[in-house]
Amino acid sequence: MKIAVLPGDGIGTEIVEQAVRVLRALELAFEIEQAPVGGAAYEAHGHPLPEPTLTLAKAADAILFGAVGDWKYDKLERALRPEQAILGLRKQLGLFANLRPALCYRQLTDASSLKADLVAGLDILIIRELTGDIYFGQPRGRRVATDGHFPGAQEAFDTMRYSRPEIERIAHVAFQAARKRSRKVTSVDKANVLETSQLWRDVVTAVLALYPDVELDHMYVDNAAMQLVRAPKSFDVIVTGNLFGDILSDEAAMLTGSIGMLPSASLDVRNKGLYEPSHGSAPDIAGQGIANPLATILSAAMMLRYSLNQPEAAGRIERAVDAVLSAGLRTADIWSPNTTKVGTREMGDAVVAALRGKALTRS
Ligand code: IPM
Ligand code: MG
Repeated sequence: MKIAVLPGDGIGTEIVEQAVRVLRALELAFEIEQAPVGGAAYEAHGHPLPEPTLTLAKAADAILFGAVGDWKYDKLERALRPEQAILGLRKQLGLFANLRPALCYRQLTDASSLKADLVAGLDILIIRELTGDIYFGQPRGRRVATDGHFPGAQEAFDTMRYSRPEIERIAHVAFQAARKRSRKVTSVDKANVLETSQLWRDVVTAVLALYPDVELDHMYVDNAAMQLVRAPKSFDVIVTGNLFGDILSDEAAMLTGSIGMLPSASLDVRNKGLYEPSHGSAPDIAGQGIANPLATILSAAMMLRYSLNQPEAAGRIERAVDAVLSAGLRTADIWSPNTTKVGTREMGDAVVAALRGKALTRS
């Protein structure tokens, strides 16, 4: 099993280091190879996704990714900015299916900004289409307007587009995931306004015919944003396009009070995947050793389950994380009174200890 490890920028290096320690503690036959990505790769090779990094990612069975980005790269032209690395990996590796669970840990119910009873037991899976939509649609660019409200003015434009097969394959991913859960899918679109959304709705409805045991409802994205904070537990699987999924998955993550806890998977047609925490590179706290490594550690667990066919090892990591939380260990982002504040490395130590079956004690 070959794993490409791409730590990236900011807290990326710190949290990935802990996830790699956890993977090694499993004592399975992994071949782990590391390469720079994002701003770190720009510094080293002049490009956020240099050829050797892309080649390594293509050759691996799975990719563990930290985070990319730093304010200091904001002035670079778009093609050289760190974010292009993750967009490039998604596109070049065909990682069209993004799975973002929003799970509220019972030990962390009070960390949510919503009332505890609204989020206790929350378990949503957002499935975001990841290689289409306005993110990648051509044409895009800048030009001088020849029509519209201000002919002759400079304008910019992007193209929202989806093809039937692109929608079909993500719909299958959603319905199949629903079968392993409570068989309920909410498809989110803006079909009252957008052509792409109308096609989305038609295609998702057509694919449902192959899944008579699954329940489907459709919801406009504005309403979905509202329902997510009104009654989040009314959702189970949400399937949506790239742009809406970007926004709703951040919203859903925050419901759990702890974006530092949430893993994600981005899969291709054969379940090869890139695994990364749902949060970003947090340059404001980089290098301080206080970032929460659990989202990355849980991403490694997802990697074992979805791409490396090691569900038992995945379960071991997830139980270890649960044990660490039950022992009251918390990084700063999830700390509350009466719990023990620990740093990034100590949190990694605790998960490794729990994996090895050592009893955890509160210091
Ligand atoms: C995400 C991020 C990316 C996205 C950025 C970094 C390009 O926000 O993974 O959700 O918009 O997809
Ligand atoms: Mg995002």
